[in-house]
Amino acid sequence: MSSSDLERWNAKYAQARSASLPAADNWLIDQVSPLRPGRALEFACGFGQNAIWLARQGWQVDAVDISPVGLSHAGHLARAAEVEVNWIAADLDEFTGDAEVYDLVVVFRFLDRARLPAQIERALKAGGRLVYETFTVRHLARPESHMKNPAFALQPGELPTLFPGCDPLSYAECSLPDRDVARLVAERGRKVEGVKESKSHYERRQ
Ligand SMILES: C[S@@+](CC[C@H](N)C(=O)[O-])C[C@H]1O[C@@H](n2cnc3c(N)ncnc32)[C@H](O)[C@@H]1O
Repeated sequence: MSSSDLERWNAKYAQARSASLPAADNWLIDQVSPLRPGRALEFACGFGQNAIWLARQGWQVDAVDISPVGLSHAGHLARAAEVEVNWIAADLDEFTGDAEVYDLVVVFRFLDRARLPAQIERALKAGGRLVYETFTVRHLARPESHMKNPAFALQPGELPTLFPGCDPLSYAECSLPDRDVARLVAERGRKVEGVKESKSHYERRQ
């Protein structure tokens, strides 16, 4: 992408004056609350409201975003909430995190078909959970939508197809009052190309 992404998002976050922590996503809370906390990774975390919520629940969280300005806000918000999150300023075009270490990967309102799916499958342990929500092309038709480029929105049925190494546990396309999104919860299977096998976090605790 990405020097233009860096400038664009830094400028956006420099204008933002987020004095208080935005609410974590309710659907994320529903999906993650039943899970036993382990290691979590959020891609494109923005202000970090979801990462901070996860840390509050006892997850050990790494959170990646291209914008150091956004992450600086996130760091202040985490300190105010008295939680630790490992904020990582990195462009996903270049980011190479650890392979097969995460019990949970979270993505909200971000789409990068070229690199993100392989990075997610690489990051997850076998049996690890993916919780992913982002905009569908229906969202572009909303008069209030700032999104104009269909390349950043999902086609109908597309999201599960981006993760051949994950088994969908649930998938829905939702028209919500403020957005049209697809929501996928999936579990990384045992065999993903280039990633060795290991026992699932959820198997090990039984
Ligand atoms: C629409 S915001 C979503 C933020 C957050 N996930 C949320 O739901 O509030 C998209 C985020 O993606 C980040 N981003 C854009 N391009 C990126 C890239 N190439 N690498 C990493 N992060 C990127 C932006 O800085 C921004 O924080």
